[in-house]
Amino acid sequence: MQNTLPKIPFNKPFLTGNETLYITQAVAKGHLAGDGFFTKKVHAFFETHFPFKKCLLVHSCTAALEMSAFLLDIQPGDEVIMPAFTFVSTANAFVMRGAKVIFVDTQADFPNIDADKIEAHISEKTKAIVIVHYAGVACDMDKILHLTQKYKIALIEDAAHAIDSYYKGKALGSFGCMSTFSFHETKNVISGEGGLLVINNEKYIARAEIIREKGTNRAAFFRGEIDKYTWVDIGSSYLPSEIIAAFLYAQLNHLADIQTKRKYLWQRYADKLAELQKFGVKLPQIPAYATNNGHLFFMVCNNLSERSALISFLKKQNIDAVFHYQALHLSPFYQKNHSGEALPHTLMFADQLLRLPLFYDLSDDEQDRVIEGIFEFYENY
Ligand SMILES: Cc1ncc(COP(=O)(O)O)c(C=O)c1O
Repeated sequence: MQNTLPKIPFNKPFLTGNETLYITQAVAKGHLAGDGFFTKKVHAFFETHFPFKKCLLVHSCTAALEMSAFLLDIQPGDEVIMPAFTFVSTANAFVMRGAKVIFVDTQADFPNIDADKIEAHISEKTKAIVIVHYAGVACDMDKILHLTQKYKIALIEDAAHAIDSYYKGKALGSFGCMSTFSFHETKNVISGEGGLLVINNEKYIARAEIIREKGTNRAAFFRGEIDKYTWVDIGSSYLPSEIIAAFLYAQLNHLADIQTKRKYLWQRYADKLAELQKFGVKLPQIPAYATNNGHLFFMVCNNLSERSALISFLKKQNIDAVFHYQALHLSPFYQKNHSGEALPHTLMFADQLLRLPLFYDLSDDEQDRVIEGIFEFYENY
């Protein structure tokens, strides 16, 4: 019988209340294209709250990743190392420039790239290592930085999940020569779609502005540095309008409150679900070097059929719990290019990881319904 309790979605976009006010202000200013008042506020927010050298608001984390591939001057035949357990965009951005992606397995106990397995994949063709801080939890940065320095390889942080999270006290997004954030509506801080390119190495800044402005030097023109702007490089349209920036700025002003609430909900899941261990279920363990930014709470089921049964069980109770990435090395598009190396932990997380509803407005009662539903499932499975 279908449950008649109200639906608990996986995600519900949170509004601070100031979004439409700021959008109205942006409209009143009469400048709706990019790089106006609110875009500058967003850039300043990130550049003052985090040790990021230069920030550029873009349409999405995907756009920021594409820009980073342009800026590294990726050429056909270059190799780029990354985890296979990630979103398509992490790889696509580099494949579009002709790179061959070399996929590395995740750790056995956490879905971040296994830093101990990277070195065996480095070759003379390796141009970059792209890491993903899954669920906003830092990768093993000391080991990764040791390799990028030893082999002089660029490091890109795909920090789509990782706003306001830290490795040994240093903000994620500040380690790579470039890093990329997402403000998609499922993230902690949102603008519907949206992203940020962080540039920590001075040498990429001038060209980044050009690539973001369709290959023109318009940004320098608007600063009065040149008397006309023209086509100087390749590029595309990566800067969002002031409407997006205004929405995002309202969210950023509530960052501390958003993080506190999400971390509260995350910890509540961790505490109340701890007993699931007796059913063989694993819960996320945050390494001592990392912080948790409450982006995502996951559990790891014993196998795929158990996970599918649990998803259906919760769905009947009007609760949406969802799996995450499919392994990219076995994807229809890229399988033919993969070496054939088995990546068992990637497959395990692809089959067994389940994400639970977690959003700012999730009430304790709703969260208890999710928790009780999971226990009910395991006690009868
Ligand atoms: C690790 C990772 N990178 C990149 C992206 C793409 O982000 P966006 O939707 O902002 O392009 C996602 C999407 O959630 C992601 O999970």
